[in-house]
Amino acid sequence: MALLPIIQLGHPTLRKRATEITDFNEDLRTLARNMFDTMFEADGIGLAGPQVNVDKRIFVIDMSVLEEDLEPEAFINPEILEKEGQVTMEEGCLSIPGISAEVDRPEKLAIRYQTLDGETVEEDIDGILARVFQHELDHLDGVLFIDHLPTIQRKLLEPRLKKIRDQNALS
Ligand code: NI
Repeated sequence: MALLPIIQLGHPTLRKRATEITDFNEDLRTLARNMFDTMFEADGIGLAGPQVNVDKRIFVIDMSVLEEDLEPEAFINPEILEKEGQVTMEEGCLSIPGISAEVDRPEKLAIRYQTLDGETVEEDIDGILARVFQHELDHLDGVLFIDHLPTIQRKLLEPRLKKIRDQNALS
């Protein structure tokens, strides 16, 4: 088992667009396995490549705490094909510790992604899975959930966000 350090707000990698994955090899499997271990250890339900300072379009999701029949899964080169509806849910992020906020996002998605074997999957998702998928996909584009907040709310959080950013700028 290998745990990867999770980077936090203030680290430049969190603001970059991650690169497409083209090699579905053993290194990718190892990366996914380490990301699962890191996510489990941190009690997270999602973790994206950039959060462990890896410039690759991959994220892992584990919703087995919430829905027993859902296995932990790795999503490679994920994309949203269609969006429908809108719903408000509370979000937090392992890279922005101690902060959570209600975020509006589309409710249902048609998605496409590749598995660790390079197989392309298309499916319709909703509920918390659709929520986590969008949050993690944002990470691959350098976007964080705080970017979706109304200006006033973002301003209210700013002192706490600045504290996290400053800590990570120094390290
Ligand atoms: Ni996050």
